[in-house]
Amino acid sequence: MRQHYFRALLLLCILCGVAASCSRREVRFRIGVSQCSDDEWRRQMNSEIIREARFYDDVQVEIRTSKDDNTWQEEDIRYFINEGVDLLVVAPNEARSIAPVIEEAYDRGIPVILVDRKIFSDKYTAYVGADNYAIGKEVGAYIGNLLHGKGNVVEITGLSGSTSAMERHEGFLSGISAYPDVRLLGSEDGAWLHRQAGEKMEKLLDSFPRIDAVFAQNDRMASGAYEAALRKHRAGEMDFIGIDALPGERYGLEDILAGRLTASFIYPTGGDRVVQIAMDILQGKEFPRETILGTSVVDSSNAPVMKMQTVHISSLDGKIELLNGEMSRFLARYDTQQVVLYGSLSVLFLLVGLLVAVYLSLRAKNRLNRELSMQKKKLEEQKTLLIQQKGQLEVQKSQLEQLSHELEEATHAKLVFFTNISHDFRTPLTLIADPIEQLLANRNIDGQPRQLLGLMKKNVHILLRLVNQILDFRKVENGRMELHLEPFDLLDSFRGWNDSFRMALLKKHIAFSFEASPGTDFRMMADAEKMERIYFNLFSNAVKYTPENGKIAIRLSMAEQNYGLSVFNSGSYISSADVEAIFERFYQVGGHQAGTGIGLALVRAFVEMHGGNIVAHSDGKGTTFTVTFPKQDVSQYHPTIVTLPAEEEEVSSTLIDTEVQTGEEAVEADGPAVLVIDDNADIRSYVRSLLSNEFRVLDAANGAEGIRLAMKYVPDVIISDVMMPGMDGVECCRRLKSELQTCHIPVILLTACSLDEQRIQGYDGGADSYISKPFNSQLLLSRVRNLIANRCQLRQFFGDKQNIEKEAVSDLDKGFVSRFKALVEEKMKDAELNVEDLGRDMGMSRVQLYRKLKSLTNYSPNELLRQMRLKKAASLLASSEMTVAEIAYEVGFSSPSYFAKCYKEQFGESPTDFLKRRG
Ligand code: FRU
Repeated sequence: MRQHYFRALLLLCILCGVAASCSRREVRFRIGVSQCSDDEWRRQMNSEIIREARFYDDVQVEIRTSKDDNTWQEEDIRYFINEGVDLLVVAPNEARSIAPVIEEAYDRGIPVILVDRKIFSDKYTAYVGADNYAIGKEVGAYIGNLLHGKGNVVEITGLSGSTSAMERHEGFLSGISAYPDVRLLGSEDGAWLHRQAGEKMEKLLDSFPRIDAVFAQNDRMASGAYEAALRKHRAGEMDFIGIDALPGERYGLEDILAGRLTASFIYPTGGDRVVQIAMDILQGKEFPRETILGTSVVDSSNAPVMKMQTVHISSLDGKIELLNGEMSRFLARYDTQQVVLYGSLSVLFLLVGLLVAVYLSLRAKNRLNRELSMQKKKLEEQKTLLIQQKGQLEVQKSQLEQLSHELEEATHAKLVFFTNISHDFRTPLTLIADPIEQLLANRNIDGQPRQLLGLMKKNVHILLRLVNQILDFRKVENGRMELHLEPFDLLDSFRGWNDSFRMALLKKHIAFSFEASPGTDFRMMADAEKMERIYFNLFSNAVKYTPENGKIAIRLSMAEQNYGLSVFNSGSYISSADVEAIFERFYQVGGHQAGTGIGLALVRAFVEMHGGNIVAHSDGKGTTFTVTFPKQDVSQYHPTIVTLPAEEEEVSSTLIDTEVQTGEEAVEADGPAVLVIDDNADIRSYVRSLLSNEFRVLDAANGAEGIRLAMKYVPDVIISDVMMPGMDGVECCRRLKSELQTCHIPVILLTACSLDEQRIQGYDGGADSYISKPFNSQLLLSRVRNLIANRCQLRQFFGDKQNIEKEAVSDLDKGFVSRFKALVEEKMKDAELNVEDLGRDMGMSRVQLYRKLKSLTNYSPNELLRQMRLKKAASLLASSEMTVAEIAYEVGFSSPSYFAKCYKEQFGESPTDFLKRRG
């Protein structure tokens, strides 16, 4: 848009420029003037031409002067022809010589005006000038009259080739013919020039002794003739008559007034008339072919008036020139002003144009701004709408998040609930299962009671399996299920497990086939227990869903990278939608409550833990589960390090009721003591019954009570439940491990909670072992025995300090032992030193010190005290000069004889014998 404005402006400026340039004069006609001579008469004529041409705006005049030379003039004329002038003005030097070039110009269509002189040709357009013949005739008549009809006359002619000279001569002859006594003595060619005329006059003077009158065809030659006569002192004898009568010094009029010339005849220059005729020709107007200018005689009678007039005329000419100059200046100024005006107009137009452009662009801008603000407003509205929608979406999102969170929490709570329920079930189930096992072990029970017990056992195990599945599934979901890989032969194992299903297959009359690709090595790295769970689950399902007289086919195969296990059973159909979801947890085919819906989810989890996958396919014939396991290189096997203790070993157990024994006597009696901490009284009594055959048992119903008893009696092993009200087992364990009195006691955490995270917490709290419920009585017993047998003891109690440092006991216990040894060293000299004193000094009761030292060193405090005294004594015996008695007292024996007895018991020889041997 803006570009259009600027284009329009540019056009405007160009138009203004054109207008400005049009205001200057345009040359339409060029006129070439060729003058034959350069004299005052010609100059006057040229001035008139130029002055007259000024009256025409469209005319340009160029004047060239050939100085009486024919060749030169010919060149001038040819120049004008070549320049393409529109009109030619020629004063031909000589009629014959100049005629051809004038004809050429004429033939080319250039109008030709002859002035003053003519040519010997008709090929010219117009003639402007005086009638030279008539003038010559008037001069003849004037001289005839001047000489009163009698006298001698000589003539000095102009250039003989020029028509003016020829015609004047002819006219003169005619003029004087009226006066028969007027004789023309001679006629000489003065070529229109002053000097040449003088020379010719001298010749005539020399030829003719009496001359009354001289006719020179122009005033210039008359003056030359006069001066010649003057030089010959004959000027006074004769009259001099010329032609031209030009005003001005040394010209005709002055010579008349000065008495040098008698008379002259006006020969008009007529330059103005030449231009007028030329313009008429150029403008196509009518014009006279011959324009004859008039003449008149000037002599002493009218010369003064003439002079006055010519002076006046020349002053007027001057004024005219002045005016012309002024006019030229005005015109120039006018031109300048016009240029300025047009320039200003251009600038004005430009400014106006610019203003218009600015206005238009502003208008356009405003319009655009309006449109933009409208669009902006719309966008703002849309933005507001979007913000509102966004707000609504965010609200919906947060509601959804809230819902999802609540759902998540609900699911989590549900799972936690299932887990807790499972835990809660496991304890009572264990308490049912183990007594059933013990009852069945009793051979006195038979018949129907034994059958009922078998039924109970079977169903208790089903319940335990379900509970375990739920707990296992939680483990898998929490990523805490471990894989214990070992070399595993699929074919051997599966074949062996098939036996377990024999009875079930027989019962339902199911045709069973088991096939394996012959000659194939089916060994891989696998977790045997999980493989068993996979196989049993798939096989059990197949048995469960195969109708009577149906078929089960199991195939073991090998593809390039995988082993494949397919379990087919006839008769059952699972829809494709169900097939997709069958491995999801809690999914039940067709919504039937046939199981917990967790078995196949666990199978898939176990398969995937092995890097395999499982798919199901069902059609009209039946259902096939296909499992693939990636092949693994069994030769690269390294036993998997199991970080957590094994549990639930399959061993039979016996429940034995035992009397509760608490109290220092019981504890201090020989044999290890076990403290059982559990909030469940049944568990406490069950565990007590398990342990009391071999151990002295203390029990506590909560953590605080447990710690109190542990501090007081310092048992050899503590068994604590984890989940207890108040202080839980982990915290209880942590506290026990941080107390000097109890930190050495092995702690078994016993709980329904089998989740690894709780185990880790338990171990972090310092637990030495972990047994999950339902526990096996034999497992518990063997664990307690193990811990007592392998408890960390100071085998190097009497060794040097470095050895103690290396012992596998806690730093707390090492500090305790060091402190105890230092205390004994310091006080052993005191024969009254007893365990009570030592305990007090160690910040412990006698029992605590006794139990702790016994547990750590297998020695009672008294034994240790005596051992240390004897060792010190041995050292003194070997290194000092002290007597046996002195040494006995030094190490705290109250009697040297008792010392000697004890020493001999310890070292096999009496101190005296030792000294003797030492010499
Ligand atoms: C000028 C002139 C005049 C004379 C005329 C004749 O050149 O010599 O003096 O009258 O020419 O052609």
